[in-house]
Amino acid sequence: MTNYKKIFGDAVGQVKKEGRYRVFNELSYSNSSPPTAYSPRYGKEITVWCSNDYLGMSQNSLVKKAAINAIEQAGTGTGGTRNISGTNGYVAALERELADLHSKESGLVFTSGYISNQATLSVLGKIIPNIVMFSDEMNHASIIQGVCDSKCEKVIFKHSDMSDLEEKLKQYQSDCPKIIIFESVYSMQGDISPIKEICALAKKYNALTYIDEVHSVGLYGNRGAGVAEMLGAQNEIDIIQGTLAKAYGVIGGYITGNKEIIDAIRSYAPGFIFTTTLPPAVCAAAMASVQHLKTSSVEREAHKSAITKVKDGLDILGISYLENPTHIIPIMIGNPNKAREISDTLLSDYGIYVQHINFPTVPRGTERLRVTPTPLHTDEMIDYFCNSLSEVLIKYGIQTTKLKDAA
Ligand SMILES: Cc1ncc(COP(=O)(O)O)c(C=O)c1O
Repeated sequence: MTNYKKIFGDAVGQVKKEGRYRVFNELSYSNSSPPTAYSPRYGKEITVWCSNDYLGMSQNSLVKKAAINAIEQAGTGTGGTRNISGTNGYVAALERELADLHSKESGLVFTSGYISNQATLSVLGKIIPNIVMFSDEMNHASIIQGVCDSKCEKVIFKHSDMSDLEEKLKQYQSDCPKIIIFESVYSMQGDISPIKEICALAKKYNALTYIDEVHSVGLYGNRGAGVAEMLGAQNEIDIIQGTLAKAYGVIGGYITGNKEIIDAIRSYAPGFIFTTTLPPAVCAAAMASVQHLKTSSVEREAHKSAITKVKDGLDILGISYLENPTHIIPIMIGNPNKAREISDTLLSDYGIYVQHINFPTVPRGTERLRVTPTPLHTDEMIDYFCNSLSEVLIKYGIQTTKLKDAA
């Protein structure tokens, strides 16, 4: 007889053996507000240093009010797929808003950023037979899943390596349909892709372009449309994908593009067609957040200032981190058990929550702490964080060189 219980237990045992068993840290915001939260596990208030609510927009009063008003007016659910009674005014208005944000003709909202990548990429092969997908090797799991599900020929190019990409594009006839798929900000190392150069290659080799701006929408560009906006490259990209769950502080994902592309994805993608529409509160909150960040740069400026303060604090204490031009501060540990222990010690002894990032989110041997300061972190919190981290890293034998020692 098959012992199903044992099979499941053994699978988890393997994960534990590899040091990548995940224990979720429950956070309660009922009597505290971000970046502090109550941790039932530790029975105390802690400060969160690893949230993707990058600007604290989930706490913004305009955004919260928009959600509450929408519930009062339209209830909690939509009761249907987009095709069967679920297309309400909130989601339709949000799609128009997102299209405008990215200066595109149309937008399409999905239940998450993950689904928007997976659903869109997986049907491109049906719409464009024989399309070849050129995908950056560091692309997110949702992109990898979409590319695999498409069953199209895939070509993986070295991370942001333009000569490798060109070498690979050259292998195909110019009339062979192609798409280059990449991200603007890579979330685990915080680097920015060479968007303009990729678009130039796409033009030269007659390829479509697909950019994931999940970690940059709301944060970069004059209207918060992301790095492509900041570089003036929005018009050179065919499909811009984003999330409403990170800097916008809500949930949901989307793509924008010309009306023919969006109409086709809308008509073919099962991940869009066969699921219930996002509720009014979510769409209204996302809309308020997008609209607010289109005109207000107060949050973006405060965000930049918090990041600079943290990087300066780490520099003074000689704590090295991956240099990059963005808001993500990766502190490399390089060992899964040590990364977990450092994270646990910070939480239990110092009330600082910074999640360790292990395989499969990052390659083995590159385990790290991923620190994401927000405008809600005060100067005192920043000082305490840097000093506590320094103590813990020293305790675990991670080399640090104080600026004054190095002189
Ligand atoms: C690059 C990238 N794309 C897509 C997603 C999925 O977005 P969402 O969290 O909205 O599902 C993530 C999530 O972290 C991501 O890092």
